[in-house]
Amino acid sequence: MGLIKKDKEMTSMQGKVALITGGSSGIGQASAVAFAKEGVKTVITGRSTAGLEETASKVKAAGGETTVFQVDIADTSVIEKLADDSAAAYGRLDYVINSAGTQGEVNVVADQRLESFEEVFATNVRGTFLVMKYTIPHLLKQGGGAIVNLSSGGGLVGVPGASVYCASKHAVMGLTKVAAIDYAKQGIRVNAVNPGGVDTPMLRKFFESIQDEDERKAARASFDASHPIGRAGRADEVADAVVFLCSPRASNIVGIALSVDGGYVAN
Ligand SMILES: NC(=O)c1ccc[n+]([C@@H]2O[C@H](COP(=O)([O-])OP(=O)(O)OC[C@H]3O[C@@H](n4cnc5c(N)ncnc54)[C@H](O)[C@@H]3O)[C@@H](O)[C@H]2O)c1
Repeated sequence: MGLIKKDKEMTSMQGKVALITGGSSGIGQASAVAFAKEGVKTVITGRSTAGLEETASKVKAAGGETTVFQVDIADTSVIEKLADDSAAAYGRLDYVINSAGTQGEVNVVADQRLESFEEVFATNVRGTFLVMKYTIPHLLKQGGGAIVNLSSGGGLVGVPGASVYCASKHAVMGLTKVAAIDYAKQGIRVNAVNPGGVDTPMLRKFFESIQDEDERKAARASFDASHPIGRAGRADEVADAVVFLCSPRASNIVGIALSVDGGYVAN
């Protein structure tokens, strides 16, 4: 009996609080729902009011509690306040999930626009950096915590036409590894999740941008085939990895890239 109780205490995430950026759709939304099922309260941020409301109602349906802040993380002037408000929302902050991300343009390097480069880096790299910079002091006050950054298979290998996106996601890996080393002794575990293709609005937007129907179908078929599992992933499969990395079950996992990609980078 005593042993069972101890085991539960060691694995429970009940009552913890997670901040999720990009929580208005896709992996961020699925993570909010997955946390709710573990008894973790969430603070969700994103730009789309409708998307944030949708996430809030899904969290409620899963029996969870959430607070919503509409924030553009490319806006450098709001992140410190976002971190403070997130920690104040439920009086503590334990987990930080950097899921806000943008894919930029698909083009060879010479045809990539500088504006697109700056937009992608402002969200994927600078946004992730600033959210970490301003939330880490709160985690330290708490005595530790976990940060999970959404990198990508494109943060580990090159993807044709996606130089800017891949560069940004490799940069996320650099931030993740060094923050992991810097804070390991202080009880903050920092890790990355590296999805392959995942059926979310981001991926759907990419295929919708291909005008010709036959070309679009061929691109989708070859995309699916590039994943040994033969299909894109689901947002809830990635969310399970996010929650795992925050959980006490991942207590010795520090600074890793956890591929959730149906074998994409093993291929
Ligand atoms: N879908 C995939 O195939 C895939 C693959 C690998 C990695 N990822 C990464 O996973 C993360 C989540 O992507 P997703 O698939 O859920 O896509 P998504 O487009 O559904 O979700 C991304 C969310 O981030 C928000 N966002 C973007 N820029 C923002 C900003 N500046 N401020 C605030 N919110 C912003 C979007 O509005 C959206 O709600 C991203 O970082 C993405 O790069 C996705």
